[in-house]
Amino acid sequence: MLSNMKFEKSIKLRTKSHALIPGGCHTYAKGDDQYPVHSPGFVVKGKGCRVWDVDGNEFIEYGMGLRAVTLGHAYKPVVDAAKKQMMLGCNFTRPAAIEVECAEAMLGLIKGADMVKFAKNGSDVTTAAIKLARAYTGRDMVAICGDQPFFSTDDWFIGSTPMAAGIPDSVRNMTVKFQYNDIESVARLFETYHGKIACLIMEAATSVEPVDGFLNKVQDLCRKNGSLFILDEMITGFRWHLGGAQRYYGVEPDLSAFGKAMGNGFSVSALVGRRDIMERGGLLHDRERVFLLSTTHGAETHALAAAIKTIETYKEKKVIEHLWKKGRMLSERVNEISRELGLIDYFQVLGMPCNLVYTTKDNEGKPSQAFRALFLQETIKQGLLMPSLVVSYSHTDKDIDMTVEGIRSALLIYRQALENGVEKYLMGRPVKPVFRQYN
Ligand SMILES: Cc1ncc(COP(=O)(O)O)c(C=O)c1O
Repeated sequence: MLSNMKFEKSIKLRTKSHALIPGGCHTYAKGDDQYPVHSPGFVVKGKGCRVWDVDGNEFIEYGMGLRAVTLGHAYKPVVDAAKKQMMLGCNFTRPAAIEVECAEAMLGLIKGADMVKFAKNGSDVTTAAIKLARAYTGRDMVAICGDQPFFSTDDWFIGSTPMAAGIPDSVRNMTVKFQYNDIESVARLFETYHGKIACLIMEAATSVEPVDGFLNKVQDLCRKNGSLFILDEMITGFRWHLGGAQRYYGVEPDLSAFGKAMGNGFSVSALVGRRDIMERGGLLHDRERVFLLSTTHGAETHALAAAIKTIETYKEKKVIEHLWKKGRMLSERVNEISRELGLIDYFQVLGMPCNLVYTTKDNEGKPSQAFRALFLQETIKQGLLMPSLVVSYSHTDKDIDMTVEGIRSALLIYRQALENGVEKYLMGRPVKPVFRQYN
């Protein structure tokens, strides 16, 4: 029991960071509105599945850099590969040879993808997919899955969220939504906006999986209506299957976007897809060329070296099998405790074993931000940092044992809070988030 944990340095640094940086940090999902007041504000180092904050507190963590760090923090073979490349220079006047090497490594994994373009962020590549689809089809509208929380920081997506300030209505009106596992809602969009939808973008699955051939039906409707089918594999990629969720569920998107786990936390992402579409961004055709993903740092050499080594490690060490196995173990044991404490209707681990999340509900059975803050606060006291329950290759059985016991202690408080009111147990009043991205 570590409930005497202090956050004095975090508190001081938080005041300074909010004075210097709007939101206090550079990623929405890491912000103070996503965490309880009594929490580590800033991390200084990580090793394996552990991180240390500015006050020297140690945590086993289950956010893993917003799901980017699949092998573990500072995973030596990947760091060494990046370091070696860095010593050879990280950016040149002409392309680096490693760009071709990494392209071969990436395309070797994704069936049906002929070409790839690298970038630094997931948002860059999903946005590039949309642009390419618009150019290819000559249409403007984009259909997105309305039940899935995030596709890009760019206007075509953020304009559809409750945080749409600064985005013109003309842009917002071009994005329309369908519901996951509701094929009628997809068909309706194609009817209502007949001949206007350039593409449909979605994740193959989140904590909800496709039923009744949903993904194949979506793919068919896209083909029938002349729209491109785009899969966002930012989270599913390198977790569901080495060939992506597209391989796992047996679909073949026209374009797909990868990032996060591709470089074990290094900044690298990829747009992959069919040659006839991707080539529109290239030189070998006489159509109007698409300005596709050209940035100064787009193919930073050490990030590509990290990606190559990460992909190699996935293949050699059966990493994906590890994520599924440990995740399954964690979810079964935590849900067993929740059931034993009579809390399963209020607190439950959900999702695929390789990508676990949890629900926190109040005594009326409604999803509750306050109870989420309480659960985070109480697990933090146990030396656990768990905005989600995402395991990495570095989480061992011993780490899982410690985690399960820590969660038991946190759930005992949760149960008291259901009886006596959550406010009584929350230390400080957390800032309310406008919306929840993936944490
Ligand atoms: C499903 C999904 N797509 C796209 C993105 C955007 O990726 P990035 O934050 O690297 O721009 C995210 C980020 O959380 C995501 O979860």
